[in-house]
Amino acid sequence: MTEVVERATVVDDYLVRALAIEDDALRAARAASHAAGLPAIEVTASQGPLLSLFVRILGGRRVLEIGTLGGYSAIWLARGVGPDGQVVTLEIEPKHAQVARENVDQAGVGKSVEIVLGAAANSLDALIAAGGEPFDLVFLDADKQNNARYLAAALRLTRPGSVIVVDNLVRGGGALAAAEGTGGPAADGAQELLTIVRDKPRLTATAVQTVGGKGWDGFLLAHVS
Ligand code: SAH
Ligand code: DHB
Ligand code: MG
Repeated sequence: MTEVVERATVVDDYLVRALAIEDDALRAARAASHAAGLPAIEVTASQGPLLSLFVRILGGRRVLEIGTLGGYSAIWLARGVGPDGQVVTLEIEPKHAQVARENVDQAGVGKSVEIVLGAAANSLDALIAAGGEPFDLVFLDADKQNNARYLAAALRLTRPGSVIVVDNLVRGGGALAAAEGTGGPAADGAQELLTIVRDKPRLTATAVQTVGGKGWDGFLLAHVS
């Protein structure tokens, strides 16, 4: 198994280079985040454009991200919505938010990215209370134990036709480990999320496993109706 993951990581690197996926701005954002001491847990260079492509395929103009870190995925999402679109991204750590602000500005998408500092649960309540335009895509990528709560908020902040993506569903054994009673809080969160998604008639979803630069993982993709 480890061999497959190692080989897949090499292939992932190759594909990213073969398609010239990252430009200087993205490489600089990644490097600046690592240099500032942020954990290297941003989406991989092959997953970033997947987010961007989802937004473009949808024709999305408004995106909500939960979990900014250094803004790497936010840059991809901002490229997806285009210069007239907007990405609202929620982050609890002031240092992460500050590094992200510099990175998105440096990447030339600062105008389209709003970074909201605070616990995501509070920021989501404030967004719901503000009653703005619905989001076309929501990307859940913060503290996994709270994903059920974030999904409930996402359902109130979207419209029929919107898409919800949940990162890190499989990492560390993920949902199956929880079902088998061997996972931690993140795995329990993943399992709880699967049950909620299954029981929500408004959601049509699948879970896709991934293997590559960040090991063996997977994401949930859901369509809101
Ligand atoms: N989406 C980013 C990676 C996010 S990592 C990318 O791919 O580039 C997860 C982030 O969620 C971290 O920055 C962490 O500080 C933040 N986070 C954790 N708990 C949170 C909470 N309760 N509210 C808001 N952000 C939170
Ligand atoms: C972790 C968080 C992430 O969002 C991710 O993509 C990978 C790892 C973590 O908390 O370890
Ligand atoms: Mg993640």
